Amino acid sequence: MRLLLLPLLLLSVAACTSAQSPTKIDPYHYSIQKQVVAAHGAVVSAHPLASQAGALILQQGGNAVDAAIATQLALAVVYPAAGNLGGGGFLVAHLSNGKNVTIDYREKAPAKAQRDMYLDASGAANTQLSQDGHLAAGVPGSVAGLFASLRYAKLPMTKLIAPAIMLAEKGFVITALEARKLNKYAADFRKLNTRPNTFEKDTPWQAGDTLVQHDLAQTLKRIRDKGQAGFYEGPTAKLITDEMQRGHGLITLADLKAYKARERTPMVFNYKGYTILTMPLPSSGGVGLQQMMGMVENYPLAAWGFHSPQAVQLMIEVERRAYADRAQFLGDPDFVKVPVQQLTSKKYLQERMKDYDPHKAGSSEIVKAGNVAAESMETTHLSVMDDQGNAVAVTTTLNGNYGSKVVTGGAGFFLNNEMDDFSVKPGVPNMYGLLGTEANAIAPGKRMLSAMTPTIVLKNNKPYVVTGTPGGSTIITSVFQTLMNILEFNLPADRVVFESKFHHQWLPDQVDVEPDFPADVVSSLEQMGYKVVRGDVIGRTELIRVNEKGLLEAVGDKRGDDSAEGY
Ligand code: DON
Repeated sequence: MRLLLLPLLLLSVAACTSAQSPTKIDPYHYSIQKQVVAAHGAVVSAHPLASQAGALILQQGGNAVDAAIATQLALAVVYPAAGNLGGGGFLVAHLSNGKNVTIDYREKAPAKAQRDMYLDASGAANTQLSQDGHLAAGVPGSVAGLFASLRYAKLPMTKLIAPAIMLAEKGFVITALEARKLNKYAADFRKLNTRPNTFEKDTPWQAGDTLVQHDLAQTLKRIRDKGQAGFYEGPTAKLITDEMQRGHGLITLADLKAYKARERTPMVFNYKGYTILTMPLPSSGGVGLQQMMGMVENYPLAAWGFHSPQAVQLMIEVERRAYADRAQFLGDPDFVKVPVQQLTSKKYLQERMKDYDPHKAGSSEIVKAGNVAAESMETTHLSVMDDQGNAVAVTTTLNGNYGSKVVTGGAGFFLNNEMDDFSVKPGVPNMYGLLGTEANAIAPGKRMLSAMTPTIVLKNNKPYVVTGTPGGSTIITSVFQTLMNILEFNLPADRVVFESKFHHQWLPDQVDVEPDFPADVVSSLEQMGYKVVRGDVIGRTELIRVNEKGLLEAVGDKRGDDSAEGY
């Protein structure tokens, strides 16, 4: 399906067949393409212009890592609610030489952060402060992550950043969805910013308006010319710390200079002969995914069928157990000892399912975290594959829409509100309703626990699936269900992404289902004793899957402006 977007917002729809890649990026005329089938390379991301930037880099000789870098930089311009320079993320890659790579560029608590910094004198948590404004921002990791990724790329940063600079300087036509979001947060922008910025305007934004970002273009040029130091030192760092001083935030020049992206040991496990490659801590995604997949592995999900009450119930119960463990045990491995081996062992996971009753809703009063012996609304995902055997999955975030809503004065980018991903106080839910304990308490220099789950599936050691999604707490269940839709239910690629999803996160003890989730399955669940809440859409999944002819089927989620490109 192809939606054509013109400044006047004429929308047209055409069927998708094989991919025709763009030869240049036109920021004023572009189309949303939900699905492509490509022979050589594919990129799928939250915005058509960003997917085009990545696809162009592939055609210019870049590999999947080059394309992922260019796509992220373009997203920082054309998708300001989540694409970012002021946030953080994770990259998971399988390289043509067989190496698996995971890069952690999660934000960190500033050195001046304290465990109880969001509690008032009476000890009550003020989550307003961890969610909006200067105090909500962690030390950004994205730019360090891009440079850490560059080690595996072929082209120079000057080339990869060029589309982003062009899009910031020339401006681009915004979609209806972007206009709606900018208007929704206009009052927050007014309240929380200390300097004029390009996102605020006197009249409401409309689809077809052009968003020009001169300050951001200058910041991107400093990064192009000075590398990582173009962000973490010099004028950009000064603009960030000046902003912090005006708004009483904590990030200092020393925090910025000290920030380092980290290569982590990839999380790799087997599921029925497939190799699952995903993100380790400080994302809870890899541990959660391995737990969920390990808990369902011995049940006949495929025979029960897609969206059958039995399959849905089993998946709800494994989600409940994985999220209970997350709340209890998971945090930054540089600060806390997390019993990952035990939590993901087959024996432990079988033990966890002992009290599963296939006809009856479990209870989060009874199902708490497992027994482990003492042992030593905004994010965005992109998937890329090239024809040399490289596959890259990146999820990156500001946390909420437009993060803290604070634009760094004069530098043109939003700062994250990732501090809310810490457990600000045991028992106090964060903006996704997630709970945590000591393991995810705030400490200076610590990374807040994430749920982001960029994931690659290998079949015979070759990339088979590249996927991931935003969605806060729902990310792990979305990725889990995406993989089940492929590996168990054998759905076609578009249905894998478009079919409705459901979510259980231990507490609150309820099943959230999407608006179009089948009513008869809801009734079956209710009869078993579940509280079912029909809510908002879940995730925005970007999928690339290799089909039986060896072609790349790329699908951008219908839940947003997500768009696929390939050639
Ligand atoms: O890292 C995390 O888990 C969250 N900050 C992700 C936030 C998110 O996905 C919001 N998107 N809808």
